[in-house]
Amino acid sequence: MNRKRVAILISGRGSNMQALIEAAKAPDYPAEIVGVLSNRAAAPGLALAARQAIATASLAQSQFPSREDFEDVLTRVLESWEVDIVCLAGFMRILSARFTLRWAGRMINIHPSLLPRYKGLDTHARALADGATVHGCTVHFVTPGLDEGAPILSAQVPVLHGDSVQTLADRTLAAEHRIYPEALRLLAEGKISLP
Ligand code: GAR
Repeated sequence: MNRKRVAILISGRGSNMQALIEAAKAPDYPAEIVGVLSNRAAAPGLALAARQAIATASLAQSQFPSREDFEDVLTRVLESWEVDIVCLAGFMRILSARFTLRWAGRMINIHPSLLPRYKGLDTHARALADGATVHGCTVHFVTPGLDEGAPILSAQVPVLHGDSVQTLADRTLAAEHRIYPEALRLLAEGKISLP
């Protein structure tokens, strides 16, 4: 099997990253995780990946004169890993249109809401404030508009009486860990493409 080479971009804990790493251990999984890059050197997920002998890199945008310079180096790192697909997993940096178009159809993101509801930040708090009874998460293609690319898979989670931001986030995260590996499988097998 010709497995697709995948890089994961993170900024923090890396639990979705770990879900992808675990999925890729299955012999029939169509992708392998070849590198993890963080824009924060202290991201716990970076150390977690390094402990599993996965190539890692950290690149702080503040070290570069512009977003374009930062993204040019990011591209060079991805090219050095011969990456086919980029997975954003809690990567909390907005990427330029130029970068997203370069990776169009080959870059996906996990977002903690049922898109198109609650693009951006604080999704769980906003769902609770609205009195939503259903919440969830979405894996989608990354396009220039923030959280606007075509959805690939989503999962609903119920909002329960007495939920806090934390309990709702925890329930949603469990669903994220289920659908992200499934969505990457679909992309790596060529079963979906950016419309
Ligand atoms: C996840 O809940 C992910 O959906 C969210 O950040 C968390 C990262 O957790 N992403 C976004 O909010 C992107 N806008 P993780 O580092 O444990 O995967």
